[in-house]
Amino acid sequence: MSKSIQQLDQELEQKNLQGLWNEELWNSDARLFTKDPKTMVQPCVWKWADIESSLREAGDLVGLGGKVERRTVRLQNPGLKQLKGQKHATTHTIHMSVQLLKPGELASSHRHNFGAFRFVVRGRGAYTVVDGEQFFMEPGDLILNPPMTWHGHGNESEPIMWLDGLDYPLVLSLQVLTWEPFPGDFQPVKESYKSTVHRLGMVRPLWEKAAGPLAYKWSDTYRTLKNLEASDGSPFDGVALEFVNPADGGHTFTTMACGAQMLRPGEITRTHRHNSSTIYHAFRGGGVTTIDGKKYEWSEGDCFVVPLWSWHSHQNASKKEEAILFSVNDQPTLEALKLYREEPGEAGK
Ligand SMILES: [Fe+2]
Ligand SMILES: [Fe+2]
Repeated sequence: MSKSIQQLDQELEQKNLQGLWNEELWNSDARLFTKDPKTMVQPCVWKWADIESSLREAGDLVGLGGKVERRTVRLQNPGLKQLKGQKHATTHTIHMSVQLLKPGELASSHRHNFGAFRFVVRGRGAYTVVDGEQFFMEPGDLILNPPMTWHGHGNESEPIMWLDGLDYPLVLSLQVLTWEPFPGDFQPVKESYKSTVHRLGMVRPLWEKAAGPLAYKWSDTYRTLKNLEASDGSPFDGVALEFVNPADGGHTFTTMACGAQMLRPGEITRTHRHNSSTIYHAFRGGGVTTIDGKKYEWSEGDCFVVPLWSWHSHQNASKKEEAILFSVNDQPTLEALKLYREEPGEAGK
């Protein structure tokens, strides 16, 4: 008597083989084979009041030292909660958290092969040290930590909070993650880089190597946004800037692009979609982002996610004040893999 297909499947299982006629397997694969890409990432708004109060409470309860190198709260995407372990993140490729550093604290130095950036949202006067260069931080400043650069943070000023963006989920999914502590805990500042007073703009001393320039001052970003206020701008994003990588003139990182965009008073952008996902932070002002027909309201300090391939448009809620969004997306990753796609919505929408 010939064996049943169930018996054959069981035998294959023992030999680490699988027959793709198996209905269960076929059904799970077939669900992915659709014209439009599928994602587990869901739209979500994180309110600044919740982020700030939880960090302030953590400030009283959680000290830095030992296993706690950073006092951060992660923006956890509800659609990714079902994934196990380290895969919890804000999107499937980017991890965003908010960090509090109190006066007198030092967050020890380390390095890793996932890229990272800091975008300052509250407080000023703390500093971050990247490969021996010291950057003092003010609201709106963006500071890059390219892969494998040593970095640590110190604060001799007032409490400060910043966004930490990492391409860690992507690197983790490639199973090539590497991380190491700095020998001696905190990396000292190089003599020529003791503060921004020593080095301004795109110059550096010949006798000391640096990874940078790595900092974008808010005063420059904001002045550029204002200078372009009367331009047409992007129909989909208003007056939108990308933070250019000074090393090659390309995207901010190989994997991530950071941007700042101004929605002028009353501005409503046209709808479009793309297969990159974007995390936004409302740096100034308030508005509404419509994602697949549903309205998500945001006000100053809030963060929100627009998942890949969802139709979206932004609206500044104020007729008098500008609104400014800081953002990070994974478009460079998709472009590098020749997978990037975008589509405009119907004209007039
Ligand atoms: Fe780090
Ligand atoms: Fe977009």
